[in-house]
Amino acid sequence: MITFQDVSKTFSGQIEAVKKLDFHVEKGEFFVLIGPSGCGKTTSLKMINRLVEPTAGTISIDGKDLRDFNRQELRWNIGYVLQQIGLFPTMTVSENIAVVPEMKKWGKNETKKRIDELLEMVDLDPGTYRNRLPDELSGGEQQRVGVIRALAGNPDILLMDEPFSTLDPISREHLQKDIAKLQQKIKKTIVFVTHDIEEAMQLADRICLMRQGEAVQIGRPEEFRNSPASGFVKKFVGGRGMDVWNAPASEVMETDSQHMVGETMIHAPSFPAPLYVFGDQRRFLGRLDPTGTVTTHDLLVSPERPLHEVVSAVEASEFDALPVVEGDKLVGVLSYRSIVAYIHAHRPERGLCRDGSGRRVFGSLRQSTRNTV
Ligand SMILES: Nc1ncnc2c1ncn2[C@@H]1O[C@H](COP(=O)(O)OP(=O)(O)OP(=O)(O)O)[C@@H](O)[C@H]1O
Ligand SMILES: [Mg+2]
Repeated sequence: MITFQDVSKTFSGQIEAVKKLDFHVEKGEFFVLIGPSGCGKTTSLKMINRLVEPTAGTISIDGKDLRDFNRQELRWNIGYVLQQIGLFPTMTVSENIAVVPEMKKWGKNETKKRIDELLEMVDLDPGTYRNRLPDELSGGEQQRVGVIRALAGNPDILLMDEPFSTLDPISREHLQKDIAKLQQKIKKTIVFVTHDIEEAMQLADRICLMRQGEAVQIGRPEEFRNSPASGFVKKFVGGRGMDVWNAPASEVMETDSQHMVGETMIHAPSFPAPLYVFGDQRRFLGRLDPTGTVTTHDLLVSPERPLHEVVSAVEASEFDALPVVEGDKLVGVLSYRSIVAYIHAHRPERGLCRDGSGRRVFGSLRQSTRNTV
């Protein structure tokens, strides 16, 4: 459907924004362009609807060179969701959505029907929202109107430039689900730009990861996970989400746990099972059994064991908590509770990381952006 052949763009004769991009987007495919700030994502997108002309190479749609299209018609047939929503501020929601249908000279009734249908598709009640102005909408509502405005003229291709970037994490997740559902229904060819690797992994059929104007890897999400083409890709994809599972037991364990007790305190009431007992200088003595005697306990975790192994060990054992023993000392306990708390506290910071311009970025990406900009 959309083909890039050796496409480059140089601004002012010196800024090489895009270098020899080569890819093919299939009809109905959800294709994601991702990469650090300034790597050429928006420039690549704008070349598809000729808001920017390539300096070299050829872009074609269904085999026809873009230069052979009438530029106006091309734009009408390619929906475009801008990086900064860009609703016309003095026009109502209906008027905003109707721009392309009117240019295409649809009848009034047909346009009105289409507007209502689109508003309903993104859960905005037409009666309530049709006549509002953009600044009478929340950020998320504006983004939704931005998306359906791009769909209004029933284009075959939809270009979306970080359409959810200004949203809070909850609205963002909501809209991500909406767009995934929408795509199943409408089966447009979508080229979607994002900074967020999780978003890309969730939505994309294929991902093109860019760096300094070049494509460093193009493939399905699982290919990025399973066979990253370089250290850069690995770092980009791995992120903090992976590191959590490699955290050593010593970082995850509770050092002051209900599941551990000094031998002199054993008689205190209501300890939970299992209860691990230490003696002088925290020397590990064993587990308190139901008869009240301390028995040996062989299933020990060493402090450097990675979390993913610890989880398997806890799961395979009959105990809800395991002792972490260093040398002969009981240094902590790994319980279901501590594992869940750790994973929760260290989950990828969806919505929490923001770059200099206030844009939300993914933890790992923030790192790579810092390195390359
Ligand atoms: N009209 C322009 N004139 C000169 N340089 C430009 C122009 N548009 C973009 N650039 C430069 O081209 C490079 C790529 O910009 P582009 O907007 O494509 O990046 P991006 O990947 O979309 O970044 P971001 O994630 O920050 O939106 C940047 O170095 C940018 O400064
Ligand atoms: Mg951009």
